[in-house]
Amino acid sequence: MNHRKDSANPPDRETLMQQARFKLHGRKKGILKRGESAWLPERLKALAPPWRGSRAETLSHWGADPANARLWLEIGFGNGETLTHLAAHHPGDRWIGIDVFMEGISALVRRLERLEHHNVAVEAGNVLEILATRNITAMFDRVIINFPDPWPKKRHHKRRLIQTDFLDVLATAMVAGGVVTLATDWPEYGTWMQEHLEGHSKFTNLHGPLQPAPEPDLWLPTRFQQKGEIAGRPILHLAYRRT
Ligand SMILES: C[S@@+](CC[C@H](N)C(=O)[O-])C[C@H]1O[C@@H](n2cnc3c(N)ncnc32)[C@H](O)[C@@H]1O
Repeated sequence: MNHRKDSANPPDRETLMQQARFKLHGRKKGILKRGESAWLPERLKALAPPWRGSRAETLSHWGADPANARLWLEIGFGNGETLTHLAAHHPGDRWIGIDVFMEGISALVRRLERLEHHNVAVEAGNVLEILATRNITAMFDRVIINFPDPWPKKRHHKRRLIQTDFLDVLATAMVAGGVVTLATDWPEYGTWMQEHLEGHSKFTNLHGPLQPAPEPDLWLPTRFQQKGEIAGRPILHLAYRRT
């Protein structure tokens, strides 16, 4: 995207809004530690998702049978513990992790090399921008969003990942019948997620309107869960079907 000012061709309102939505807040996303800048970009190139025009082509190109394998996406994988744990338990499936936080991405890449998983791909960047600009359509069978940043202050709510425009892009990226699971330790963000997902025509609560979901299979407690529990915040799990 070209961010240069060009007074002869000012960007239209839609482009300006898209640029604002693709803006990221909070972490030092692109900072690499000394030494990492030498190897991480190359590793990320090798681990790039083999995006193809369709789910079937992507899975076939990745050596999996589209009739039997599932394509998973974890959004905001942190240090990648859950992603590698699940990928190890479902070796026939294929997994894509998207995150913006370089320290976490680097931790996941190191772990992948240590564990020799070959069914995981990684992309660094803002998930909304990646899915929208690559026009990812009917690709994912399962999507995991664990502990997205809650942005608790009211004036920061617009920074939350779960927003209607994000759900539009996510619905396009998922196959009909696919399932997205979410977890949060912030009750108010939990309510926000339920309201946005249940108000969206492409998602239906698997457990009935406004109902929580049970803990997902193979659930691995993370640092964020422990922090929430220590502070007395129970974990809310949610699961929605892409209709
Ligand atoms: C609170 S952490 C949770 C990490 C992990 N899911 C866990 O449970 O341990 C939220 C993660 O989402 C990532 N994130 C935030 N906004 C994102 C975006 N727009 N696209 C991709 N990742 C994002 C952050 O970099 C961070 O790693």
